[in-house]
Amino acid sequence: MRIQFELNGQPVEIDQPPMARLVDVLRIELGLTGTKEGCGEGECGACTVLMNGEAVNSCLLPICQVQGASITTIEGLGQMADHPMQKSFLEHGAVQCGFCTPGLILSSTAFLKENPNPTRAEIRRALAGNLCRCTGYQKIINAVYDEAFAKGEEK
Ligand code: FES
Ligand code: FES
Repeated sequence: MRIQFELNGQPVEIDQPPMARLVDVLRIELGLTGTKEGCGEGECGACTVLMNGEAVNSCLLPICQVQGASITTIEGLGQMADHPMQKSFLEHGAVQCGFCTPGLILSSTAFLKENPNPTRAEIRRALAGNLCRCTGYQKIINAVYDEAFAKGEEK
């Protein structure tokens, strides 16, 4: 099946079986290995990418459903870790092994677009689908919270 979509702002056209998983197309066919695969079952959030601005699990997404969509991976957000959310994660020590980090940063970015003034509880709820086995989550929550309130407002 011929699939056309936008990937990190660039048009892409590839031939793939319709049920090929987006995570495999990104990592194997297109060489974008920033997207990770953990569980492969929609449970861990490591494979999160943005589809038309919304966080989705790319391990569950057949490529046929990506036809005409706009996909953003961590490579599209900031190749040199220069996106504000990436910087905030680094500043807060919210990255240890880093396996969960691309998914968490994309989920957090999509969430703050929806809710630019969140409480910490709202951040926790929004990121509940992204698992991290290293950090204990507090540094991640702080990174997202401080990025939301980078202008110094408290909530
Ligand atoms: S690898 Fe997709 S949710 Fe775990
Ligand atoms: S930093 Fe290792 S899983 Fe999150």
